[in-house]
Formats: sequence, C-alpha cells, structure tokens
Amino acid sequence: MTADTTAPVTDTRTPAVPATGTDSPAAGAPAATAPAAGALRIGPHTVWPPVVLAPMAGITNAPFRTLCREFSGGKGLFVSEMITTRALVERNEKTMHLIHFDATETPRSIQLYGVDPVTVGKAVRMIVDEDLADHIDLNFGCPVPKVTRKGGGSALPFKRNLLRSILREAVGNAGDLPVTIKMRKGIDDDHLTYLDAGRIAVEEGVTAVALHGRTAAQHYGGTADWDAIARLRDHVTEIPVLGNGDIWCADDAVRMMRATGCDGVVVGRGCLGRPWLFGDLVAAFEEGGPGAPAAPDFGQVTRVMRRHAELLGEWIGDEARGVIDFRKHVPWYTKGFSVGSDARRALATASSLAELDEQFAALDLTQPWPAHADGPRGRTAPGKRVVLPDGWLNDPYECAALTEDAESDTSGG
Ligand SMILES: Cc1cc2nc3c(=O)[nH]c(=O)nc-3n(C[C@H](O)[C@H](O)[C@H](O)COP(=O)(O)O)c2cc1C
Repeated sequence: MTADTTAPVTDTRTPAVPATGTDSPAAGAPAATAPAAGALRIGPHTVWPPVVLAPMAGITNAPFRTLCREFSGGKGLFVSEMITTRALVERNEKTMHLIHFDATETPRSIQLYGVDPVTVGKAVRMIVDEDLADHIDLNFGCPVPKVTRKGGGSALPFKRNLLRSILREAVGNAGDLPVTIKMRKGIDDDHLTYLDAGRIAVEEGVTAVALHGRTAAQHYGGTADWDAIARLRDHVTEIPVLGNGDIWCADDAVRMMRATGCDGVVVGRGCLGRPWLFGDLVAAFEEGGPGAPAAPDFGQVTRVMRRHAELLGEWIGDEARGVIDFRKHVPWYTKGFSVGSDARRALATASSLAELDEQFAALDLTQPWPAHADGPRGRTAPGKRVVLPDGWLNDPYECAALTEDAESDTSGG
C-alpha cells in the first residue's frame, strides 16, 4: 500500500480518543472535560484556544508551523524558531530565510534571542520597520553550557539590570507590536529568578510571560514544576502568564490551566512527530465541539510524514535537502510503531520523497497508534552543573555586559 500523498493534510480521524494517563505532573487527576478557559490576549491578538506552539530551534520553522496549523484549523499561536538578534541585524542569509512566514500565517510570531540591549533594540526596530512579524517573543531559557558559560540564555535573568535593559530596548522599539518573554525558573533551586523577572517584565511593558517550570540545572530532566507557574500567576497579576513544561496530550494542557490558573499553555516536545496534537488541543478546549479525534494509525502518520518532508523541500527550494532535514523527525513519528531497525534507518537516510514512499509502502500501515507512544518524547536528559562566568552569582544587580559569543551556538531553550 502506497502512502496517499495528497496535500494538504486534513484531520480525517474519527472522534473520540479517551484521555490518556501520563507521567506529567498531576497525572491521575480526573480527566478534563470542558475547560473553563478564556481566550488569551497577546496585545492586540486574541488567541483561541489559549495554546501556543513552543519555539523550538531547528523544528518550528514555517513548514512545521503550517503542518500544526493545518491540524488546528489555524487556531492558536505558532512561534518561530529562535532567531539571534545579531544575525538578524547583520542580515545573515540563513537567518533571513528562517524568518519566513507562510502568507496565511497570522499573527506572525517571531522569537528573538539576544544578550546586548542595543542589538536587541535594533533587531526589534528592524522587524517593525520592515513589517517582518506581528508579535515578538524573547528567549531567556537556553540552558546550554556554551551559552550559560558566557552569561547568556537562562543565566541572563540573574543579572536583573541587564534583563531590564534588554526588555526596555525591546519594548521601546516595538511600537505597537506586543513583546513577550519566555524563561525558566532560574539557574538552580538556590538561584531562582522567575518571580523577579516576571516583575521586571511588567515594569518594562512586556505583554505576557511564559514560564518553563524547570531550572537550567534540570535541563529536561525530572518533571516540570507546575506549582512555580501558579506562583508566577499569583505574583504577576497584571499580564497573562503562560505555562510550559510536560504537556504530552491535550488533557495535560487543560489540567495545567486548571492546576495553575495560567492564561495559556505553551506546548513543545509533545508535538514532535505529532503535529495533530494541535487538533486534539482545539477539540479539548472547544466546549460542545466534536471531541478529540481518534489517534492516527500508521498509514495516517506516514501521510503526515510525507507532507512534512514535502513542505520542508518547498521551503528550502530543494526536495533532497527537505527530505534530509526531515530525517531528524523520523524517530519521533515512528516512535512505538513496529517498524524494525532496518526500515527505520532507511527512512532516516532517505534523500527523496520517492525513497520515503518506497519505504512506507513496505511497512504495515494498518498498525494502530501505540498507546505507549503517548507521554514524554524528545529531549529528556537531566542537566549537570550549570556552567557560569566566574563570579556570576556574586551580585545580581551588577550591570553586566556580555560578549557576542553568548549569542552564538544557541540551541534554543
Ligand atoms: C529541540 C528543542 C529546541 C528548542 N528550542 C527553543 C528555542 O529556540 N527557544 C525557546 O525559548 N525554547 C526552546 N526550546 C524549549 C521549548 O520551547 C520548551 O520550553 C521546552 O521544551 C519545555 O516544554 P515541553 O515540555 O512542552 O517540551 C527547545 C526545546 C527543544 C526540545
């Protein structure tokens, strides 16, 4: 049986999938039915349901956002992968390609990462002057040692004055565009920064704050601390607070909102190889809607894989490079299915759509969705010691200035 390659993907799954238990916080709580949630306001933008695709470097490019939007019917907010401000103001060729939005994307949401207030201000001004986006998110969550070693990423909010200067420049140059921030709880349990950062964000005119409920020291290990999201919600009452961390299925999103009182959720790893999660999320939030669609069988999954690879090729302008870029998604899409190591390897080394089709045709496409494929996926590694510049923790109010290399080699959040 050959994969049906008709584009675009429409969600043909039938209702209704039962709520699944997960390892995420509060699992075991009663399955959510109709959530009591209002629309999320991000400045002039109304987001319904209050669901945001987390920025993920190397993943949430225009093709992946298109795929997720096809499943959600365009509902929700879909943030670009992280763009470094220096590369943007220097008009780096790759960066200019990364900031591409599909013509149907609205609002266009871009995530920036920068460590120098002046450069951040220039990047924001460029976005406004050249009408490159409708919403700007700033990333303060990267835990990667190469970055924290220079004081960047999730180490940066520890220096309150530097954080404040960056936010002031961003908001000051943003005109009518809303600026939001995304951060972790802090460096480690002894150096939590999120409550101060939330307060500074309000004082500097930031529109909303998102909290990934882990410290940098945790990387992706353990479980996200949803209580911290609730604490931030109580602390920062003036603007919307978005919760992030360990939403593996639609029911987790509803439970996070109920458990924390947050105004919206940010969904990352749960949608890796599962872009239809956004269809499930819409169904979970829309009272009286059709209910959650059934989990896809492998035939349906391969059609989504095909579409994803095809979209990447169109975006890159080269089918082979699109299929090569798609390779990293293969383990996520095939997780839990009976595929076999040879076929898995062949899929992950294909360099044309025809090769993908050939591999799909040889597989059992009637396999149902493997229940154990729900739950954690993507990065789960715990962190080690957070590497910081010498003396970084001595004075949170020191007026720190970082070097450019705190902005290079970032791999997201
Ligand atoms: C592959 C990958 C890339 C990421 N890139 C970014 C990024 O560019 N910007 C950012 O703020 N966070 C980034 N993150 C962090 C996610 O946005 C999110 O905060 C984190 O995965 C926790 O949410 P989750 O439990 O829903 O995955 C990345 C995460 C992963 C797994």
